[in-house]
Amino acid sequence: MLKEIFHKIEHEYNLNKENLVTLLSLENPDDLALLFSLADRCRRKYVGEDVHLRGLIEFSNYCRKNCHYCGIRRGNQKAQRYRMTKKEILITVSTAEKLGYKTVVLQSGEDTYFTIERMTDLIKEIKKQSDVALTLSIGERSNEDYQRMYQAGANRFLLRFETSNQDLYQKLHPDSNYEERMTILRRLKEIGYQVGSGIMVGIPGQTKEDLAADILKFKELELDMVGIGPYICHQNTPLVGSPNGTVEMTFKTIALTRIVTRTAYIPATTALATLSPKDGRKKALQLGANVVMPNVTPLKYQAFYDIYPAKEYSGEDAEQNYHKISKEILAMGRLISHDYGHSLMIP
Ligand code: 5AD
Ligand code: SF4
Repeated sequence: MLKEIFHKIEHEYNLNKENLVTLLSLENPDDLALLFSLADRCRRKYVGEDVHLRGLIEFSNYCRKNCHYCGIRRGNQKAQRYRMTKKEILITVSTAEKLGYKTVVLQSGEDTYFTIERMTDLIKEIKKQSDVALTLSIGERSNEDYQRMYQAGANRFLLRFETSNQDLYQKLHPDSNYEERMTILRRLKEIGYQVGSGIMVGIPGQTKEDLAADILKFKELELDMVGIGPYICHQNTPLVGSPNGTVEMTFKTIALTRIVTRTAYIPATTALATLSPKDGRKKALQLGANVVMPNVTPLKYQAFYDIYPAKEYSGEDAEQNYHKISKEILAMGRLISHDYGHSLMIP
């Protein structure tokens, strides 16, 4: 049975949901080693040896939403809020560009201060001053807003669907709607964005069947980028006391996402590096991942973007972080990409 599934992977037949559940259930170290090496081979074949670095700027932690798992949800009155000024953001982008980043990611909570006028102004200024690809990760907006931000120069958009289990989605998101989220992901693609989505592994209530369905959803949505990180319990949320996701299940999900999507950009996420500080990032890059998103947010703000606890907070600034991660990648025998790292999707 397992042999047949491995045969399917080697010959690049499509895996079905049942196959994925079987593979997500693997625990035998030899079986896992084989799965991970097949995922690594797939990564080499479809996206090569390049690792893409994306500079992450967490520019505001204000959020109008109340997602049950998130430490910066509006209901967490203990969260200390900050918002970078336009000038600070522009300086940070410029610092990232000088370090060698060809992509910057602007990430925030759903902060209503950043109206469409402020966002398009910011995007235009960034594109005027810096030769970088620009990714937005700012949550749900109107279709018109997405269009205007694309016209202003944004290239990519990240919006995780978090889980494809509709009931679970509704339980975790008191102010979002599953269908609406999926509609937005399709619209973003129609507008022309390169689109990223993703999930958390191990959120309370999630089953292996759910994870298998998530992986098939990545493929169905023709995503350019897929972010997968373990759920990490934050104590000032309604999910206080729940267990974290596991590193091993996250690895399996990343490996299978590589095998199923083939060409997606898949980051070794910060959440994974947080749960597995010694070698989580390195291992992820050796079983399917090909992107790292080092934090370039000014140090004085980094600790406040507290979506989950002990978020890998290096105490290092953008420059130290860049050099540390570059060294790690080169030591693995991988290369650091010097191009923009645009979509490789084969529709
Ligand atoms: N643990 C892990 N990931 C989290 N996120 C939010 N809260 C947590 C948590 N407690 C993730 C969500 C969101 C992304 C920006 O951070 O998947 O989309
Ligand atoms: Fe806000 Fe995003 Fe956190 Fe939800 S996950 S509360 S939208 S920052």
